[in-house]
Amino acid sequence: MPFINWSKNLETGIDSVDEQHHILLDILNSVHASMAEGDVSAIDASFKKLMEYTDFHFAHEEKLFAQFNYPFTASHKREHEKLKLEAQERIAEYKAGAIEMIDILAFLIDWLQEHIATTDKRFGDYLRLKKIISA
Ligand SMILES: [Fe+2]
Ligand SMILES: [Fe+2]
Repeated sequence: MPFINWSKNLETGIDSVDEQHHILLDILNSVHASMAEGDVSAIDASFKKLMEYTDFHFAHEEKLFAQFNYPFTASHKREHEKLKLEAQERIAEYKAGAIEMIDILAFLIDWLQEHIATTDKRFGDYLRLKKIISA
């Protein structure tokens, strides 16, 4: 059973973005699965994958902002930078034994869901308003 499931309120309506969000969720589920198994090298590998895919995904969104002249590009990009730094810090804390497994998982779920449900969805709303994607 997956640790977190996709929910409809996370949908932005932008196909490529939604598809990548699903993949991020899958990676987060694999972080959880490797933690549940206590497999240290698998945990490390899934963290690495999460950060690499996050980089790829943020760059994809940022390319779309430029392509469609998104007026909130600067603040959305700042949020991406902050999210990356925070995740790197929390992961380092977890690896150093400073925080528990449950705390890093709770952090990463919030980290992903909050950003999608507010900031990313706002971008979807903009594209709908501009009739770039359908309602
Ligand atoms: Fe996103
Ligand atoms: Fe984003």
